[in-house]
Amino acid sequence: MAQYIYYINYQDYEADLCALEMRALFNRPIENKAFFSDQRVDESLSPYFKSRLEILLEATDLEELIHKISKKNYTEDGFMVKYVPAIKPDPMEKKRRAITKAIGYAFEGLPSFDHPVIIYGVTYYNSKWYFGVLVYNTMLWKKHMSKPNSYSSSLGLNTAKAILNVATQGDTSKKIIDPCCGVGTVLLEGHYSGYDVTGCEINYKVAMKARENLKHYGYKGQVIQKDIKEMDEYYDAAVVDLPYGNFSKSDEVDMMNIIHHAARISERQVLISTIDLTMKIREEGLVVVDQSVVYKNRSKRFARYIWVCEGLN
Ligand SMILES: C[S@@+](CC[C@H](N)C(=O)[O-])C[C@H]1O[C@@H](n2cnc3c(N)ncnc32)[C@H](O)[C@@H]1O
Repeated sequence: MAQYIYYINYQDYEADLCALEMRALFNRPIENKAFFSDQRVDESLSPYFKSRLEILLEATDLEELIHKISKKNYTEDGFMVKYVPAIKPDPMEKKRRAITKAIGYAFEGLPSFDHPVIIYGVTYYNSKWYFGVLVYNTMLWKKHMSKPNSYSSSLGLNTAKAILNVATQGDTSKKIIDPCCGVGTVLLEGHYSGYDVTGCEINYKVAMKARENLKHYGYKGQVIQKDIKEMDEYYDAAVVDLPYGNFSKSDEVDMMNIIHHAARISERQVLISTIDLTMKIREEGLVVVDQSVVYKNRSKRFARYIWVCEGLN
């Protein structure tokens, strides 16, 4: 029996990136917005997680589920029961109040609707009922939206957070380099999630801004002011938001140089560019193991291409 149900959500223009992140985290394609897994992933790690249910009981009908809950003698005070829709439209959505009320009566303790100490979730999915402990993505990382230094062209928080997880497959013990860190959008998300992430930035003033951003949130991470070609420490992964080119030959040469050095100092690379560099990346000898595209907003006019690369051919 799977231990968890994950509930995810994303905007249409982020669908492809969310799919890439889920493939990296769960090692398989995820097709639905609610899915089962044996793997326990922190509920706030992915920007696309809404919540996670740790399954305690399952039943084929609601009466059976309520009976099983009663038999468990849940005595704690301050509990709350929530119905979590798994599909759209959810056949039980209209009855959710009646369902949670009936389940609540099966508890021995007292409920709390304002300040619950524990939330239990119930879901109806593929003709079965699931009950368990429900935890929500805290979304506390959204505080980074008001970082002191920002550029309109900086990566969005969701993209920054997702590509870190793609780079590491969710293993927060991995050592990461962001070799073109700009004002540190990826660094902030990395530190928040507990990754060991170092920034490198060629431009002195920009590096100072990244440091100020880290300090603002009390993160201890390092920002090295250097050209990536001078870096020699080795990392598990590199997350590379390439400088925004204007399709000129010299921009392309600069980008390929950065890619070359990122591959020299890391095992796995996630490359992001506003220009489609697929052919060039292959010519460089990198093996593209996965790829995706994310748009800035609903209009889908501004695309960022993402490649996940491993080692040299
Ligand atoms: C697209 S921006 C990164 C933006 C960043 N992800 C953010 O959200 O703020 C690329 C950055 O790479 C830096 N850069 C360009 N060439 C570099 C090089 N050879 N070594 C290190 N940094 C470089 C630029 O100064 C620029 O700040």
